[in-house]
Amino acid sequence: MLNSSCRGVRMANDFSRYLAENSRFQSYLYSYPHKTAYRHFAEKIDLATLWQAERRNALFLYTHIPFCELKCAYCNLFTISKPQAELVERYLVQLSNEAEVLREVLGTFHFANYAVGGGTPSILSLPQLDSLFDIYTNVMGVDLQAVPGSFEVSPDTLDAEKIRYLAGRGIQRLSIGIQSFIEAEARAMGRVQPQAETDALLDGIANAGFPVFNLDLIYGIAGQTEESWLASLRRAVSFAPDELFLYPLYVRPLTALHRKTVALATHADIRRRLYALACDFLQARGYVQDSMRLFRRVASAPARSTEYSCQEDGMIGLGVNARSYTRDVHYSTEYAVAKANVAAIVQQYVDKPRAAFAQADYGIRLSEDDRRRRYLIKSILKAQGLERTHYREVFGTDAGSDFPDLDTLLQLGLAQQEGNFLRLTAEGMAHSDLIGHWFISPEVGHKMQEYVPR
Ligand SMILES: C[S@@+](CC[C@H](N)C(=O)[O-])C[C@H]1O[C@@H](n2cnc3c(N)ncnc32)[C@H](O)[C@@H]1O
Ligand code: SF4
Repeated sequence: MLNSSCRGVRMANDFSRYLAENSRFQSYLYSYPHKTAYRHFAEKIDLATLWQAERRNALFLYTHIPFCELKCAYCNLFTISKPQAELVERYLVQLSNEAEVLREVLGTFHFANYAVGGGTPSILSLPQLDSLFDIYTNVMGVDLQAVPGSFEVSPDTLDAEKIRYLAGRGIQRLSIGIQSFIEAEARAMGRVQPQAETDALLDGIANAGFPVFNLDLIYGIAGQTEESWLASLRRAVSFAPDELFLYPLYVRPLTALHRKTVALATHADIRRRLYALACDFLQARGYVQDSMRLFRRVASAPARSTEYSCQEDGMIGLGVNARSYTRDVHYSTEYAVAKANVAAIVQQYVDKPRAAFAQADYGIRLSEDDRRRRYLIKSILKAQGLERTHYREVFGTDAGSDFPDLDTLLQLGLAQQEGNFLRLTAEGMAHSDLIGHWFISPEVGHKMQEYVPR
C-alpha cells in the first residue's frame, strides 16, 4: 500500500491550504529525488550487477564539465571558475578512463540521446573538444551525426570558430545562457556581456543551422523592472530562438548573491508579475509553453524524435557530479557549492583509481513510492501532462488513488482532465514549483531538510 500523501498523515484540505499560504517559488525540481537527498550508501554498489538488470537499449548519456570562466553570483551548480589548464587536461583523461570502465560495466547498450552540460562545456578549447567527442565516438559508441545531443555554452567562452565546430559535430541543440540583455543586470550577477559581442555570437548561432537553438534568461534580478525584462525578451526573440528557458531567480545558500541579502525582499514578488508578462509576450509571438520554464517557438521544426523517455529510461552520468539513474538507484559523486569544496571533489575525481568507477558509493535508493512520485513530478509539470493509462501500465495502479491530492488540483482549477491526460492549467503551470514540492515524499523531504549546504 502506498503512502498516499507526503509528509505523513494529512487532512484532505492540507494541500489547498498549502497552495494558498506559500509562495509559488519554492524550489526547482528538475529531477527527483533532489541531489541534496543523496547520501553515502551503507555498502558500495557494484555497477555491473546494477545495470545488468536494466533496459540498456535507449540510454541517456550526460557529461558534466565542472568549469566556468567566471562564477555567476546566483549559481549553485557544481562548477569552479578559472580552472588550471593542467586540471582540465587531467579531467578529460579521467573522463576517458571512466567511460572505458562504464563500457565494460554496461556490456551491451545503446545511447538514444546525450547532453554535455556544466558548468560551461564551451570553456574547452577545440583540441579539448576533440578529446571529449573522441570519448563519445570511440568509447561510448555514439554516432554524433545520428544521435541527438545538447551542448551548453556561455557568451564569455564562445567564438565563431567554436560555433562552426559544434554545428559540424552534429550537435542538435545548442543552449546559451544570457540571463539578461541589460549589461548592468548581467554585470550585477557577475557576468561580462558586451552588447555588440553578444549580438554577434547570437547571430552566429542562429545562422549556424542547429536544429534547436535555446536561450536562457533569468527574471527577478535585483534592479530588474517590467520594462527592462520586456527589453530582454524583445532582444531574445529578435534572434528567433527555437526555445527560451525563463528561470525565476532563486537565491541559494553559499552563492555570492545569498550574502547580499538586502536585495532579496525587493525582488521576491516581482517574479510573479514578470512571469505573467513573459507568458503574454511570448504567446503573442508564436511561442507555446512546455513547462513553467520552457517556451517553444511553434514555427520551429520539431526536435528530432528520440527513443528516450525521461520517466522510465536510464541515464549514465560521466564526470564528477554527473548523476546516473537506474529504476531503483540514483547515484553520483558528492555535491558542493563553496569553491574549496567543489575543487576538493573535482580533485578526488581526477585522482580516483580506475576500478572505483565500477562502483557507486553516493546516491539514493528509490522506494516504490518514490518511483511513483518521480513519474508524477516529471510528467505533471510538463504541458503534455500525466497520461493515466501509461501510469497504470507502469505501476499497475491508478494515479488518482495513489495521489488523492490530484483531485484537489482539479477542484481548484489548477489542473484539468483532457481525455486520458491530467494537465495543469495556465494557473497550475504558474504554480509548478509549489505543486512539485508538495509531492516530495516525507523520507526525501526529511533528507533534503537535513542536508547542510557546503
Ligand atoms: C548550466 S547553466 C547554462 C550554461 C552556461 N553555464 C551559462 O550560464 O551561460 C543553466 C542555467 O540555469 C539557470 N540558473 C542557474 N542558477 C540559477 C538560479 N539560482 N536561479 C535562476 N536560474 C538559475 C541559468 O539561466 C543558467 O543559464
Ligand atoms: S550560470 Fe553558467 S556560467 Fe554562470 S557559474 Fe553557473 S554554470 Fe557557470
